Formats: sequence, C-alpha cells, structure tokens
Amino acid sequence: MTTTLITGGTVVNATGTAAADVLVDGETIAAVLAPGSQLLGQDLTASVDRVVDATGKYVIPGGIDAHTHMQMPFGGTEASDTFETGTRAAAWGGTTSIIDFAIQRYGERVEEGLAAWHEKAAGECAVDYGFHQIIGGVDEHSLKAMDTLVDEGITSFKLFMAYPGVFFSDDAQILRAMQKSRETGLLTMMHAENGPAIDVLAEQLYNQGKTTPYFHGIARAWQLEEEATHRAIMLADLTGAPLYVVHVSAKQAVEQLAAARDRGQNVFGETCPQYLYLSLEDQLGASSEEWGDFEGAKWVCSTPLRSRAEGHQDAMWRALRTNDLQTVSTDHCPFCMKGQKDLGQGDFRAIPNGIGSIEHRVDLLYQGVVTGEITLSRWVELISTTPARMFGLYGRKGVVQPGADADLVVYDPQGHTSIGLGKSHHMNMDYSAWEGYEVDGHVDWVMSRGNVLVDETGYVGSKTHGRFLKRDLTQYLV
Ligand code: URP
Ligand code: ZN
Ligand code: ZN
Ligand code: ZN
Repeated sequence: MTTTLITGGTVVNATGTAAADVLVDGETIAAVLAPGSQLLGQDLTASVDRVVDATGKYVIPGGIDAHTHMQMPFGGTEASDTFETGTRAAAWGGTTSIIDFAIQRYGERVEEGLAAWHEKAAGECAVDYGFHQIIGGVDEHSLKAMDTLVDEGITSFKLFMAYPGVFFSDDAQILRAMQKSRETGLLTMMHAENGPAIDVLAEQLYNQGKTTPYFHGIARAWQLEEEATHRAIMLADLTGAPLYVVHVSAKQAVEQLAAARDRGQNVFGETCPQYLYLSLEDQLGASSEEWGDFEGAKWVCSTPLRSRAEGHQDAMWRALRTNDLQTVSTDHCPFCMKGQKDLGQGDFRAIPNGIGSIEHRVDLLYQGVVTGEITLSRWVELISTTPARMFGLYGRKGVVQPGADADLVVYDPQGHTSIGLGKSHHMNMDYSAWEGYEVDGHVDWVMSRGNVLVDETGYVGSKTHGRFLKRDLTQYLV
C-alpha cells in the first residue's frame, strides 16, 4: 500500500481550518497531524512513499457533485458526456464523487432502469459514483420497487412536476411517492416547476412567433417555480416526507423553502453555478456571429436562467450564506451546439435542456470566498460536506479526518484558472457555457481513495478506478 504525506497546507473542513499535514495510507486518511510531526524521532517525510508540498495551499475534501446526468437520453438526443468523459472532467475540477440519476419512465420497470445505469457506469468512471433513482412513472410497480432501493444503496429518488409526457408526475402520484418516502426513509428530490402551465405559455409564445431561446426563460416564469415549490412543500408536510428541491433558481422559491424551514419542516434546497452567475438577459438573450439569436441555446436549461434585474442571482448567494439553500451541484447535462442544441433552431421548445459545468463547480464557488460572500469553511461545506451528509456518504466522504476515504484536493488560492474551450475544458462539448471566465484559485492536485488523479503533469487517473457508492439512509433533521 502506498503512503502519501501532504505537508505544509491548511486543511479546510466545514468545521474550520487548521495548519496540518495529512498522512494517507492506502485508500484512507491515516492521520491529520501537527505540521512537521515526527515518527520515532524521524521526519515523517523520510518514511512515506510520496510527499506532496501544499505550502500556501488549501487541502480540502474532494468535491461531491450530487446532481449529474451522464449520457442521459433527453430532448430527442443524449447528454454528450459519457461516464468516462464526464468523470474525467470532474476529476480535473476537484470533484471526486458524483451522484448521477438512473432513469425510469412511465411503463418501464425501475429495476431495469437501474440495471441499465449500472451497465453504463461500471468500469467507466475516474471517480466514485452513486445513483439517485428518477421515478418518471409513479405506479404500483414503481412504488413497490422503491421498497428495495435502500438495499441497493440508493437512498433518494427524483420526481418531476415539469416535462409532461416525459418524466411528469401529477399531484396524486407525488402524494403516493412521498408516502412511500416517509415509509422507507428515501429522500424525495423534486424538480419543482409547473410543467403543464409552462407548456401552455410556451405554445402561446411559439404561435406568436417568439421562437428564440430567450423565450424558454419567459415561458418558465418564476411564478411557476414558486408555485410548484410551495405545492411540493405542502405535500411533503402532509406526508411527513423530507424534501430536497433541486436546481432552485427563483428567489421566490427560496423564500418558500426558507419559510418552511422556519416552520421546522425538513426541506432543503440546491442551486447550481449557472443560477449564481448567469442570467436571462446576458445569456438566454445573447446573439453571436456564428449562431445569431440562437446563441442563447447554449444556456437553455430548466429551471431557466433568470432575470438579473429581478435579483435572483444575488438572492441565491444570500441563501447560500444564510443556509436557506444547502448545496451547490451542477445538474451537469451537456449537449453540443452542433447536432444537439440545434435541434431547436426555430423552436425553443425543441432545444435539449441542460448545461455542462462539472469541471468548474469547485472553482466557481471559490469565487464566493474571494468576494467575501461565503467563508472558506462554508465553501467546503457547500461543495462536499453537506452533499455527503445529505446523501448518506458522510464519514467516508466530505471530510478530511482519519478513517475517511483519501479523497483530497490541493487548492492553490494564489493560482488562476481560465475557463473555456481549449483552455481548462475537458467536458465533451463543442462550446463552454463559461467561455471567457477568468477565476482566482486553481485545482493543483487531486486524489481519490489514495490514487492520484491529477498532478502537475495533468490527468493521471484511470476509468477503472471509480467505484459504485452504496449510500446509507440519512436522518433528515434541520
Ligand atoms: O435542464 C436540465 N436541468 N436538464 C437536466 C434534467 C433536469 O431536469 O434536471
Ligand atoms: Zn430537473
Ligand atoms: Zn438534473
Ligand atoms: Zn496552481
């Protein structure tokens, strides 16, 4: 077994920071030691296989991206990152665990959807991976199948109030699935947008000749996110099910979550980097020489990017500070412009929904530390510790402490990262949603379970390293 000593760094956990050396033995962290500690009167550096100098840098637990869609069939095509390319890009960006979504649609069996997802991922991942289960058709079969998910290490499932005809559940289905959630301890994750109302507005806009990507954002009005969030909260309250609302982008939806938490309800919220930085005006409304006013298709995702004039982005940062939102995941669901996004030229309704950001989440959130929006410890909490706690991985993942998996990132606060195509971009996309972003900080070195994935020479991992993460049930208490 290989031993590694990471010396001279500042270890950052959700609970605080400390100058410490980290000793890794095999796949786990053996000790977190006072800097320069000795063993039997000898310098520890002399007795380990590898020494990593982290002087002036942060040593943090590897990022956990709890919301990804590798090679997901969606919008008439398939998300362009495979488990291989997507997890490699994750490693480049300091993310050492992902939780992807296995899929069941109406009329399909959960067991088969899950087996298909295992087949896609096994032997293809650079980092460890777990699954949530999408229940896209709540019926007798899928409700029964939910009883066995916990034994499979899948302790959360996602329902959709959006996408009628694809993954949509009506209120009766949601109620029954939440009753099952209460019974089994599975966490209900909710895509909270009123899909039927959105479809009416989208059709009306299209019929008025308003066909460009900008109108994707107009059709998916914040009122329809607020309403669905409120409805999900009420149904969860009624059933006693814990609730985690994914990809929150409307400030009014955050207000609903905050109010429910103030009442003592077990509800949680996730946002994504795109909702912290990007907007309806600047991105969905963009035009370019190459794509004209179809340029905005690069940022078509749901929930949509929202108006900066209305202040949604500031509200997301604020909620991350005040813990009204608990996690930042990417909702990584990339599509290329050529051959995928361009299916929706002339009709925004046909643009595949999704943005790719898995490589940039750790860096983009670090900007919140640079600007003073969040503390160093809160950064680590948002990108690693809370996802671990929320999704049954804590102790193994999400913390730098003895006994934990040696999933570690050396992060250089003096470093600099240029994001975009042909720069630090390894996702399988023909564009970057973050083209031109210049950010402070740099992922210098990445380790997953004692194996180095990224060092000063670049990516040195392998697609057979990542293992399936059987996740534990978690007690959801605010
Ligand atoms: O636009 C998005 N979010 N695409 C991925 C599917 C989903 O709803 O999470
Ligand atoms: Zn969704
Ligand atoms: Zn998603
Ligand atoms: Zn660097």
